[in-house]
Order: sequence, then structure tokens, then C-alpha cells
Amino acid sequence: MQHSIIVNQAKSLQGVINVPGDKSISHRALIFAALAAGKSIIKGISGCEDCFSTLNCLKNLGIKIRVRGKTLVVYGKGLATFKNPKKPLDCGNSGTTMRLLSGILAAQNFSSILTGDRYLKKRPMKRITDPLRNMGAEINADKGNYPPLRIKGKKLQGIHYHSPIASAQVKSCLLLAGLQAEGTTTITEPFRSRDHSERMLKYLGVLLKIKGTAVSISKAKFQGKEFSVPGDISSAAFFIAAAVILGGSKIKILDVGLNPTRTGFLETLKKMGAKIEIENRREICGEPVADLEINGEGRLKAIKIGGKIIPRIIDEIPLLAVIGCFAQGKTIIRDAGELRVKETDRIHAIVSQLKKMGALIEERKDGMDVFGMDKLKGASVKSFGDHRIAMALVIAGLAASGKTKVNNTDCINTSFPGFKDLLKTL
Ligand code: S3P
Repeated sequence: MQHSIIVNQAKSLQGVINVPGDKSISHRALIFAALAAGKSIIKGISGCEDCFSTLNCLKNLGIKIRVRGKTLVVYGKGLATFKNPKKPLDCGNSGTTMRLLSGILAAQNFSSILTGDRYLKKRPMKRITDPLRNMGAEINADKGNYPPLRIKGKKLQGIHYHSPIASAQVKSCLLLAGLQAEGTTTITEPFRSRDHSERMLKYLGVLLKIKGTAVSISKAKFQGKEFSVPGDISSAAFFIAAAVILGGSKIKILDVGLNPTRTGFLETLKKMGAKIEIENRREICGEPVADLEINGEGRLKAIKIGGKIIPRIIDEIPLLAVIGCFAQGKTIIRDAGELRVKETDRIHAIVSQLKKMGALIEERKDGMDVFGMDKLKGASVKSFGDHRIAMALVIAGLAASGKTKVNNTDCINTSFPGFKDLLKTL
């Protein structure tokens, strides 16, 4: 049975919290630890379902992983040492698991199948299968584009690939393939996507060449290491959003990852007039980390959002739609067509549900227009099985008059199992 969350209008949020480990970094720590020679220790890993999908796939590929509370010990054996899995590898809802593992499996000396849940089976994979085939792998996808992926590993050859989209999943997939290929592999993207893979590779001592949006990698071996995962800024974003729209709020979020390829949300909110202080800046395992203080102070102003900031705010756009409802003027979001191929079509999902709550919001091909009215009304809304839509609607519910029922909220566990309880503490 699917659960729902009932949200009552809130006055303000107050308190100090930590958010769970960054999901993107957690996937990568697991994968790079599995590819390293020797033992790695991962601290602060996200306990979300998506990261469990990566962990379970790696176990099915013969990697020994021990869980000691919130710390993981991964016994890597080096590149090309994975075992032929006995069954299809289940990536669950996780696009990152499927796309990153494809880059590894394309170079192994066995065949494997990557599959996932009904949402993942609708997500495009041609973006990785095309370049991986150019590198020499044999891959079959349903209707040429969709999971399950049947991958026959081959000896790979480096290529120069110009990705038409700014996607860290595509880039990371090809970096992982490039790590095992003959010659150099270069990936160029239209704008810079999140660079956690590059930072982690550097942390592991792998030489990369980075010039503008081009990243080059060659074959390399590396040893296991200790990884510490900072708090997930995309999870922190839900509380930040609530604090900026609920006047009088004052919250602190500690130990948040502030990688510049992920901080577009903070910059956008500051442009809209939000008061966000960044304190105690430091660096952990090559990733910038800091504490955030957010003060909800009066009305925000609408702005136009598009272009190269989009990859840096891609997961936070449903929240910006909610915030736009409380900003003065018309918030215009463009160049965000990628949202239509996320866990669900996030443009349609957030626009249709906010309309039920009385928002003046219109869908556009690659974005939306939001007319700020400074009010929403409670309604019964649905998540479309998408974690970020479910949580964005809960935040909208906090600022809406009356009661909001968000249906089908089990999907929240995909990225943020403790979301509801942490929100209650504020
Ligand atoms: C991710 C990259 C982004 C992001 C996703 C996580 C990653 O996807 O939306 O939540 O960890 O590499 P795309 O690469 O499809 O833009």
C-alpha cells in the first residue's frame, strides 16, 4: 500500500539540522572504491534506496562490502576484476546507478543485463549507449533507447565525444569507460555539469585534463582510500525553500556540500532576495563543505532563470516553481527540457499539481512561467512516483492555507528516507 503525507500550514521553521550524505557523491564513492585496489572506507554515505541499488549491484558483481553503522568498508580488487553476475542487475529507480555502471560493464570480459523499476525503464539510455558503442562495446537497449540494457563487454578504445546535453551521468559513464580504454577519452559538454567524478578521481590520484567543458582521461590504476561524504545540498534545498517562503524562519544546516557545480539554487535564491549566510567553509576529500544559515525575511522577487545555470540547479527546479508562487512578479524558467526525462516529466508534474493548489503557473516546452500570488491553498496532490516532486509538494503544503494531502510518498525513500521526521524537528 502506498503512503501519503498530510501537511498543515506552518508559520515558520526554526532549528539546526544535518542532512544525509550527498547522493551523487555516495554513488561515486561506492563505485570508485569498488574499482580501487584494496580497502576503502566510506563515511557518511547516504542511506537512500538509490545508493542501495548501486551497493547491491556491486555486491552482485563480486565486490565485498561490509556495513559498520554509517560507515562502509569496500574491498576493491582493481579494474576489470568484477565477476559475471548470476542475474540481471537491478538499478531500481536510479538513473545514476544504471548510467555509471554501464561505463564499467562495457569494458568487462562478460555480458550483463542492467534493469530497473517501471520509471527507470522509461528513461533514455541512447545518450550513453551511442558513445559506449563508439568505444567498442556491444549494447542492446529496448527500442534502441530504454532499459533493460544488455551489455557485452569489449576492449574499449578512447574517443572524443561531444555530448549534446550537459549531463554528469553521461560524462561519468564515459570517464569510467575511459579509465579502462586504450588511448585517451575526452568528453565535451555544452555547459559544465556536476564534477564529483572528476574531483574524486583527482582525490584518488588519477590524472585528468580539464579544459573548459572538456575532460580527458586515460587508463589508470588507483588504491583504496577513505571517503567522507558531505551533506546533500539537493536534500538541504527542501528546508531552504521552506525557510525562505515562511517569513520569520531561522534555520541552520550543517556540513552541506557546496560544490560550485551544485550551488545554483543558493545563487538563484540570493538573486531573488533571500537571506542565506555561508559559514565555516572547508574542504573534505576534494569537495567544498560549509554550514548554511537561512533567514526567512519577507517577499522574494521573481527572476528569469535559464542558460548555463540550468545543470547547476536541475534537481531543484521543482522547488523553484514552488518558491516562484511566493515571489513578486513572473518567474520564468527556460532551457530545462531535461526535466521531462527525469524520474517523471517534472515540468508537467509540478505545474499540474501546483495548479490544483491554486497557483498561476503555465507549462512551457522547456520550462514554465510562474506568477507569484503569495498564496496557495491546500489540496490533494500526487507525486507521480517521483521523490523530488513529492517533497516539493510537501514544502508547498507548509505554505498553503489549510491542509494538503500529498499522495504516493513512498518514493521519497529514493533519495531521502528521513525527510518527514527531519522536517518535523524544524
Ligand atoms: C546526477 C546527475 C544529474 C542529476 C541526478 C544525479 C549524478 O542527472 O539530475 O539527480 O549523480 O550524476 P543528469 O546527468 O541526467 O543531468
